[in-house]
Amino acid sequence: MSGYTYAEVERILVAGDLRGRLTRHDLPTPALLLDLDAFEANVAAMARHCRAHGLALRPHGKTHKCPEIANALIRAGAVGACAAKVSEAEVFAAHGVTGILVTTPVVGRDKIERAVELARQHGDTLFLADHPANVRALDVAAAAAGVVLNVVIDLHVGRKGGVLPGEPALELARLVASLQHLNPAGLQAYAGFASHTVGYDQRRIASAEALGPAVETKRLLDRDGIACPLLTGGSTGTYDIDTAIGSVTELQPGSFIFMDLDYRGIGGRDGGAFRDFRAALTVLTTVVSKPTSALAIIDAGTKAFSTDRPLVPEAIGVKGVTYAWGGDEHGKLDVRRASAAVELGDRLEFVVPHCDPTVNLYDRIYCLRGDVVEAAWPIAARGKSQ
Ligand SMILES: Cc1ncc(COP(=O)(O)O)c(C=O)c1O
Repeated sequence: MSGYTYAEVERILVAGDLRGRLTRHDLPTPALLLDLDAFEANVAAMARHCRAHGLALRPHGKTHKCPEIANALIRAGAVGACAAKVSEAEVFAAHGVTGILVTTPVVGRDKIERAVELARQHGDTLFLADHPANVRALDVAAAAAGVVLNVVIDLHVGRKGGVLPGEPALELARLVASLQHLNPAGLQAYAGFASHTVGYDQRRIASAEALGPAVETKRLLDRDGIACPLLTGGSTGTYDIDTAIGSVTELQPGSFIFMDLDYRGIGGRDGGAFRDFRAALTVLTTVVSKPTSALAIIDAGTKAFSTDRPLVPEAIGVKGVTYAWGGDEHGKLDVRRASAAVELGDRLEFVVPHCDPTVNLYDRIYCLRGDVVEAAWPIAARGKSQ
């Protein structure tokens, strides 16, 4: 402990003038921590990988929702950032992030108005579409505002939205190309189920099968004379698989910057755990009750960790500690086999089950170099799901 009061810690954090004055021991828990060494190694590894394979990198910002991270990725060589929704894109753009691709369709008058405004201010923004009615609505709104919208056609290669690859996608591309206020920018082919397919060989097969029709669709567009500069897709789980799929021009992985327990479990090339990227994201907690020698209660429950996977947070630093959900505010630790004593007031750190929804629970992420807090970055697009 540095001896700062809570108010002093908060003042230092808000002023952003950290200069090595705070350590992890000063942080109010539960706190979202970023291990900068691991994060920077992950970013460098993905940037190197894309460069080596002649692919652009447009990492997905839904993972971090943090403009500082999006800009750090661009400084490392990314061509921009993906954003899941228009509101996320607005936050990124307002913080100087360029080359934003909104990876879900913009449907409804309010969203289209916001998309057009974004395009007016940031002409390099790309928007997704997968339906002729939506494409026409985008064109009408763009015409009224006197702007041109860059449109990427989303292909149904995963298990969610998108237009069917092949003729239906070609028809839609022809429509986009025929409209004056739309610029056909390319295709998106993202297959989330392939990313999380367990086993490297199974994952390779799943991704090749999913993206094959996208490659064929790109050929159809080329033959039809429709320019298709982009074929964007891919993920952390398939980053080294999709490079072998010809015609893919850029990767849009997200989780690689942080990693989580879910991704660790998909299996690596060597048959062991998937460890191509380091675990950089943790949640720091405090033991707030010790009812028995076997049970410790921490201040981090379902409002501190994602709960969308059949996984529980994993303690690091102390072995033999098992986490169980203890409600909104608490976690129950079985410490009978703990490798060190776990007492009231102790601080324990956990790797998270799933990074994206965990990050969305926090206002800021504390960036640590060893024990020293180097920065506290706002999760400025937290809750921006509109
Ligand atoms: C459209 C799209 N692209 C890319 C990603 C990034 O995937 P990952 O975090 O698995 O790397 C996601 C994640 O859900 C996504 O929805």
